[in-house]
Amino acid sequence: MKNVFWKASVDSTLTWAKEEAKKSAGKELDGALFVADEQTAGKGRLGRVWTSVPGKNIYMTLLLMQPEVRVENASSLTLVMGLSVAEAIEEMTGITAGIKWPNDIVLSGKKICGILTEMQIKKQKPEIIMIGVGINVNQKEFQEELKDKATSVFLETGRVLSREKLVEKVTECFWKNYEIFLKTQDLSLLKEDYEKRLLNKNQQVRILEKGTETIGTARGITHMGELLVEDLQGEVRKVFSGEVSVRGLYSYV
Ligand code: BTN
Repeated sequence: MKNVFWKASVDSTLTWAKEEAKKSAGKELDGALFVADEQTAGKGRLGRVWTSVPGKNIYMTLLLMQPEVRVENASSLTLVMGLSVAEAIEEMTGITAGIKWPNDIVLSGKKICGILTEMQIKKQKPEIIMIGVGINVNQKEFQEELKDKATSVFLETGRVLSREKLVEKVTECFWKNYEIFLKTQDLSLLKEDYEKRLLNKNQQVRILEKGTETIGTARGITHMGELLVEDLQGEVRKVFSGEVSVRGLYSYV
């Protein structure tokens, strides 16, 4: 692996990566990985907190500097990483991992991984892209309010995995998929692999968006990573991941 930086404890690996990118010269840290054993201020999607259990899980951020990616395509990289985490877990455990759109990785109906991508733009181009990944690997228990929707690789397989090996595998899968993504600058060549694992496909979903809730049936994703949702009238619309939360009708997926 290229540059890998490790800390026992950090506020958030996303913030840490951003600070290091600012201090660095040119593309020096392109592809660098920032990994911590614990985060004291982990960030989740939609302004949520990502809690941390020291020494059990993976908290990491992959930094891309001045990547050859157009601004409008950058958010698809979150889905590229989601697919990569699913593949890595499958390779290491032999169990098929599901994806809950846009990028939660799910085992037995519960979340084991969340991904948050942040970007800084300069002259209409991504200057840095930071892909933050949190994977519940060896965690043995969850606090009461998370028990229904969160789990870990250990709880689902009974196996303690090497976090180092999983980080390596996720990174390897990401570089493979990133190369494929760059060929078209979108998800067209990865869509099939992604949709194979998409748990929402042909399922009813509740879409919570700016205070309103709509119900429809998820049909798949577009080349740009939007979720295709068919409403009760049979009309299909594209849902962009930005400020949206998607849930199953009766459960988390
Ligand atoms: C989600 O809400 O599903 C996204 C969670 C992303 C968590 C990871 S852990 C490593 C990186 N650093 C952070 O502060 N957040 C991301």
